[in-house]
Amino acid sequence: MINVIPKPVKCEEQYGEFIINSSTSIYADDSLAYARDRLIDIIEQTCGYRLNVVISTTANICFYVNRKIKDEGYEIDCDIDRMNIFASTKAGALYAVQTIRQLVLSDLIDKPSVLTMHAVKIEDYPRYSWRGLMLDESRHFYGPEAVKNLLDMMVMHKLNVLHWHLTDNNGWRIEIKGYPKLTQVGSYRAGTQSKAWGSNIIDWNPHEGFYTQNEIKEIVSYAARRNIMIVPEIDMPAHLAAAIASYPELGCFNKSIEPFVLHRGNNPGEIDIIACAGKDFTYKFIYDVIDELSKLFPSPYFHIGGDEAPKTEWKKCPNCQKMIEDNKLKDEEELQGYFNNKIAVYLKRKGKRLIAWNEVLKSDNLENSIIAQYWTAKSDPKINSWLDDGKNVIISKHQSFYFDMPYSKVNLKDTYNFDEEKYGIKDHNKAILGIEATLWTEWVPTQQRLDFQLYPRMEALSEVSWTPKDMLDYKEFLARLNKFLPTLKSLGKVYCPLNMVDTDKFKGAFDFITFLKRNAHFEYNKAMAYRKRRRY
Ligand code: ACM
Ligand code: ZN
Repeated sequence: MINVIPKPVKCEEQYGEFIINSSTSIYADDSLAYARDRLIDIIEQTCGYRLNVVISTTANICFYVNRKIKDEGYEIDCDIDRMNIFASTKAGALYAVQTIRQLVLSDLIDKPSVLTMHAVKIEDYPRYSWRGLMLDESRHFYGPEAVKNLLDMMVMHKLNVLHWHLTDNNGWRIEIKGYPKLTQVGSYRAGTQSKAWGSNIIDWNPHEGFYTQNEIKEIVSYAARRNIMIVPEIDMPAHLAAAIASYPELGCFNKSIEPFVLHRGNNPGEIDIIACAGKDFTYKFIYDVIDELSKLFPSPYFHIGGDEAPKTEWKKCPNCQKMIEDNKLKDEEELQGYFNNKIAVYLKRKGKRLIAWNEVLKSDNLENSIIAQYWTAKSDPKINSWLDDGKNVIISKHQSFYFDMPYSKVNLKDTYNFDEEKYGIKDHNKAILGIEATLWTEWVPTQQRLDFQLYPRMEALSEVSWTPKDMLDYKEFLARLNKFLPTLKSLGKVYCPLNMVDTDKFKGAFDFITFLKRNAHFEYNKAMAYRKRRRY
């Protein structure tokens, strides 16, 4: 067993050890120079010296382009004298470096001057092309350094999509030059609900923050160098209260509101706040925001949320009702379909596809190009017909991939053992693009808490989205994970201890009620007390 996460597709250990020391030389075909330099950096950080770059294929370590290798795939052929790395793309070569990093660093203590790696032949490529993580920065804002750190961790785990939830009821987090109030008003809230969803206690410390367009550009290119595409999400028509607080005319009744301090609305009725689907201004606003964001995010995808959209206001709004009548729509669900389609068509003209949470499938009039992100715990019968027609889906099932949940609700084994068939998902057409975990942050006020929710879940996500399904073995994964924990520790990550990741379901049910009603921090606090005692 080699200690690599995610487990490579094929791996044969060879006789002997390959040694890296200060006289080791390294070569790369031009297009793979970035990956070569990352390997040089890793070795420098560990041993203090930089390998000698040579323009000769007699080097000890050589990166070669091989066009026959699958996109994002790589091969490593390492005997006692030489290590050859083959990839067709920069991404594949970069992933080879991540594998080598784990192979040479897994058993290290202190600063060594020589690194050894067991001779090995590896052939590797991903199961899914979409291996994603969603970060919610509306509920809590972490800032550029935290995001860059997350991107560094993602590439280590061969994850390639950061879905960035930049706006919601509780804060708007991105500068839009044409609508300055979005950040002047919408990026600030006076306080934050504390304890749990079931509590009305508010911590009246203001919470604010947003990314300037320059910061966004820098983060997007930082991600691209790590083979990570960033997909922005502007959640609409619901979950848009921070924008409606900034521009009340976006709402059906021009009501003056503030970004929410309670996660589900400050006052009765506020959770029903929604953008008006019957006003020209709403569409102009959305198109203008898309125009600005398209210049910042080159991704061919754009996420518009679309989840949990209550229709109470649309039912009462003369503009929305007129839109239904004029366009001969059946009801308010079809109005949301109409709203989604207008935006999908606008995005298409910009070469982008619209992604939305699976509730949007409730309307039967949707554009074919829309990608549904399947999150609901409850089975959604529309998903299979969407897949049957060859339309695309990304899987984020709550039971496996909601990383904001306590481990006692979403066990680590639930993430690792995710199985489409168990959830009745039938993909005859290979229309599932991949897997994405979500990190909602209502109860994640600090970076350390963020890390606790993420690790060691990111390792399970990495393997379930990369490694062929028939090679997944949870018990064996846990053994490799145990070897990986010192790496997490050396990177300063406060992870959930393994004795807490798989609480039994009966206890988990109690814990979940505590999490929802009384104390969303109980599990984290328990783990931190354990950490103090055991210094893990
Ligand atoms: C969601 O969790 N509302 C997508
Ligand atoms: Zn309206």
